[in-house]
Amino acid sequence: MPQAPDADEIVERLPDPVMVIAAGDLTDPSDRTITFANAAAQTLLRIPAEGAPLVSVLRHPRLLEAVDEGLADGGAEAAYETYGAQPRWWRALLRPLPDTPGGLKQVLLILRDETDARRNERMRADFLANASHELRTPLASLTGFVETLQGHAKDDPAARDRFLAIMAAQAGRMARLIDDLLSLSRIELNEHIPPSGEVDINAAVHDVMSASGPIHAQRGVKITPNLPSPPAMALGDRDQVVQVLQNLIDNAAKYSPTGGEVRVEVLLAPAGAAAVPSRAGAARLSLLTPDTPVGHYVIIRVSDDGPGIARQNLPRLSERFYRVEGQKSGERLGTGLGLAIVKHIVNRHRGGLVVESAEGQGTTFTAYFPVTH
Ligand SMILES: Nc1ncnc2c1ncn2[C@@H]1O[C@H](COP(=O)(O)OP(=O)(O)OP(=O)(O)O)[C@@H](O)[C@H]1O
Ligand SMILES: [Mg+2]
Repeated sequence: MPQAPDADEIVERLPDPVMVIAAGDLTDPSDRTITFANAAAQTLLRIPAEGAPLVSVLRHPRLLEAVDEGLADGGAEAAYETYGAQPRWWRALLRPLPDTPGGLKQVLLILRDETDARRNERMRADFLANASHELRTPLASLTGFVETLQGHAKDDPAARDRFLAIMAAQAGRMARLIDDLLSLSRIELNEHIPPSGEVDINAAVHDVMSASGPIHAQRGVKITPNLPSPPAMALGDRDQVVQVLQNLIDNAAKYSPTGGEVRVEVLLAPAGAAAVPSRAGAARLSLLTPDTPVGHYVIIRVSDDGPGIARQNLPRLSERFYRVEGQKSGERLGTGLGLAIVKHIVNRHRGGLVVESAEGQGTTFTAYFPVTH
């Protein structure tokens, strides 16, 4: 069997900060020294030299209490936060060590960075709260109209018809929310598995146009495709690529003025081409960039002549439930989940997403999908 490296070497290279703390007088909290700190601890805490007093390096009262408890009882744990440029959450684990030959008490201190886990937990909680709130609003309206119909509107046929139409719209909104939520969770479940099929993007554009073109035509909005020949083929999941197109085209049409035009341009190009500005004078933000942009991409650009989006709102567009305040989206109020779904699908495809917008002039969303991996 090959010889294992020294335990010292191993501890030195552990990614978590590890320290040994020794105490002379247990009753004197200032009598604690750091007698060992591995590389991670030295980098994190900028420990001047081994033998430094503990309080000169770590000041959090909860942590200091846990150290004392560890020295007295052998084991302890504490969770605490630090507020630097970025707040961080830590868990301190204290484990007993034998006394030094000189009779000093010692304890092992391991710090664990739990910031990412905490942040995910917070995001999950926020998401649940938002989703419940979004569902509760139409539900409250439904309940209100049911009461009205049972009460004074019972014998008023005109009011009844009007209320039933509103109730149908609210029920439809709840159904859309639930569909979008389920869709989002399904996409997230296999976001780590890249799709393996091949998608004809030209055909996908035509599918979306024939499905929703007539709805937009009612408002006089025309969808104009500009597709390459031969058709562009991308590596992808057909249904999901259609979902991306559907969302981007629906948004563009929804925010277009009556009689406006939505342009859908598809081209095959190296990844760099997606980064080239396509709207002069517009604010531009990449909402998603592929980890390793290599080879060719199918670039899909959806442009409208709508109200545009203010620069400061661009970073929040793909957040769940985010809608630009004060923007009119017609009678069919969306869920605010559309662009979040788009971003997760494009991410699963290892592609990218860019938004360019100029207030009062219009918006262009660019989604690009790799042709091969
Ligand atoms: N083409 C666009 N022009 C202007 N604003 C847009 C456009 N696309 C998206 N937005 C803004 O981004 C927000 C989020 O879009 P998303 O597709 O995620 O929501 P939505 O489900 O379509 O909801 P909504 O009906 O409010 O648009 C929209 O509410 C809108 O404010
Ligand atoms: Mg939308």
